[in-house]
Amino acid sequence: MPHPIIFDTDPGVDDAQAIAIALRHPDIELLGMTTTYGNVDVETATHNALLLAELAGREIPVAQGAAAPMVKPRHPAPAHIHGANGLGNIELPAVRGRPDPRSAAQFIVDTVNARPGEVTLMAVGPVGNLAAALQLDPAIIDKVKQVVIMGGSVREGGNVTPVAEANMFNDPDAAARVLTAGWPLTLVGLDVTHRCVLTPAHMARIEAGQGALGEVLAGSYAFYRDFYYEFLGIDGCCPHDSCALAWLLRPELFITSRGHLTVAMSGDAEGQTIFAPEGRAFIEARWSRTPLVDVCLGVDGKAVSDWIADTLA
Ligand code: RIB
Ligand code: CA
Repeated sequence: MPHPIIFDTDPGVDDAQAIAIALRHPDIELLGMTTTYGNVDVETATHNALLLAELAGREIPVAQGAAAPMVKPRHPAPAHIHGANGLGNIELPAVRGRPDPRSAAQFIVDTVNARPGEVTLMAVGPVGNLAAALQLDPAIIDKVKQVVIMGGSVREGGNVTPVAEANMFNDPDAAARVLTAGWPLTLVGLDVTHRCVLTPAHMARIEAGQGALGEVLAGSYAFYRDFYYEFLGIDGCCPHDSCALAWLLRPELFITSRGHLTVAMSGDAEGQTIFAPEGRAFIEARWSRTPLVDVCLGVDGKAVSDWIADTLA
């Protein structure tokens, strides 16, 4: 049985790779995409989500969501990483479709309520849409099947600050709410995504296998790859957002640990995810106050990267 999912995203080069998997994989039933600012502004995110679905020949609802963080001012979009258009500044075809008239939060609430116990919420951008959905209808906590979040870092350190990962840093207030809501949650963070590298050889296979969609994936990858070479010295890119789908479909490739998660909302540690393993007593009991969640701490990075390429080749 395919997994029914809502994919919450800020496309974004690595988001686009993940969206392609969600659109193509036979074990995924993509119920809709919800969009957020993050790698780009939310209007561009919506445009890109619609475009990627059209290039794959799919009609998928796309509901636009958060344009800014819940509380703090918005950080500038990282145009040097994803391009000003989110897809490596390549020329893009026109989009024909229109977004769903509902807000992202309303779309999430309606879809989860229509299929209680079935829907996986997968978020690979700042998580304001999930926080807004919780505000709209807290009862969805008991109705989602699970929540999978690409974000955070436990041992790896951050990619925006020494301790904070981008999706958490972009809206730490929303992240604190969503990560401690008490729903079944798995965090797929930099501890595993930094172990995965999508190489030029992988991308050549993906480009050959994906037609018009493959051209966009390969063109945007070329831009993103330059960033990774400059900043991490690797030839390829970390396919962060695809790792969340890999965890859903190939969990045996990951090592997870259960425990309590908190998010620092201000100060130098803003956006840091802090993990207290289950059963480990701390003198300060507050570190064990939040509901238990699962966090990915280990991965077979080569197998995940090969799986991404095999899925799209
Ligand atoms: O830190 C990685 C995350 O932030 C990914 O979701 C990527 O798209 C970036 O914006
Ligand atoms: Ca993303």
